[in-house]
Amino acid sequence: MFIVFEGIDGSGKGTQARMLADYLIRRGKKVVLTEEPTKELFTGYFTRILLRSKDTPHPKTIALMMAADRNEHVEKIIRPALEAEEIVISERYYGSSFVYQSLQGVPDDFLNYINRDFPRPDVTILVDVPAEVAMERILGRAHGNDGLVQKFEQLEFLRSVRQKYLEIAEKAGFVVIDGRGSPEDVHQRVLGALRDHGL
Ligand code: TYD
Repeated sequence: MFIVFEGIDGSGKGTQARMLADYLIRRGKKVVLTEEPTKELFTGYFTRILLRSKDTPHPKTIALMMAADRNEHVEKIIRPALEAEEIVISERYYGSSFVYQSLQGVPDDFLNYINRDFPRPDVTILVDVPAEVAMERILGRAHGNDGLVQKFEQLEFLRSVRQKYLEIAEKAGFVVIDGRGSPEDVHQRVLGALRDHGL
């Protein structure tokens, strides 16, 4: 079984991925909790450097790097775990490319082409929160003052990412979960949604 969590920064998708993994492990399941960009593969290392680079890479370059990291992720981690009948939970997957790189202007047919061979998740859960809620969580997490203007810009960006996620969720059949409230509340919603889907 292959479960993916998607959502904007500050949505709580990482927390939810971990809570679901812990829940399944307590029930005796074998679970692989993983994420993109990957943490342990060299492609993820380069991707993170690229994302932080001042020499802003072309959006298609980012899409290709994400796909390269995804290919390593699939071949080294995801596929072997699925073949061993383990449950794979990934924080971000190709849904992120169809949101972020699409917003950067990369055409859908290009994204479709470079992502066409990757295994389809059994379910993709979109942890949805309004941009303001995500921003509050991000500010609560990071200390220091970014300056008001930058905050507004970031809020606008979070809004557009959220809109794109909701649009793609509808097209691709993602399960949309209300990410507001306590982590435990949201976790219960996630479990409920998985049950509704017979998982
Ligand atoms: P990360 O620091 O892991 O952020 P987060 O905590 O939000 O997951 O960096 C991931 C960033 O990479 C995030 O801003 C989204 C972006 N990303 C893409 O643009 N395309 C992709 O295909 C993926 C997987 C991530």
